[in-house]
Amino acid sequence: MIRPSHHRALFTAIAAAAAMSFTLPALAQFNAAEAEAVFEDNDCTKCHSPDQPKKGPSLKKTAAKYKGKADAEKTLVTHMSKVQKVKQDDGTMVDHKLIDTKDPKVKKNVALWILSH
Ligand code: HEC
Repeated sequence: MIRPSHHRALFTAIAAAAAMSFTLPALAQFNAAEAEAVFEDNDCTKCHSPDQPKKGPSLKKTAAKYKGKADAEKTLVTHMSKVQKVKQDDGTMVDHKLIDTKDPKVKKNVALWILSH
């Protein structure tokens, strides 16, 4: 005799999962105060100001140059990490200053902050 087995489907409440709150990472989140401090500590301000050209382009100009470009953040991080020759506003070529950190989070934060100008 075949006894139907009683498969008791366990419809476990998913309510617990639904109740778990989580935040979606906002796009291009950065800490401006931290970025600014790093920028100053590294003497980047010697050549870059938020909106006036110095020896290097203003942050506004750089932000405008990369606006809407998908690889903007990566390009700026690379720029801070690898020695590159740059042309100063007086035409002389110099090795661009590197940021004094190996922490990718710090670099990313500075890049996002620059792009926010
Ligand atoms: C001695 C002057 C000088 C200092 C100091 C300096 N920069 Fe620059 N920077 C330049 C010049 C000049 C350019 C322009 C490069 C070009 O357009 O060819 C530039 C360009 C840039 C750009 C734009 C790159 C691009 O692809 O358009 C970024 C971002 C940047 N600098 C970040 C920094 C950071 C971060 C620091 C500090 C760690 C720093 N700079 C320090 C002179 C300087």
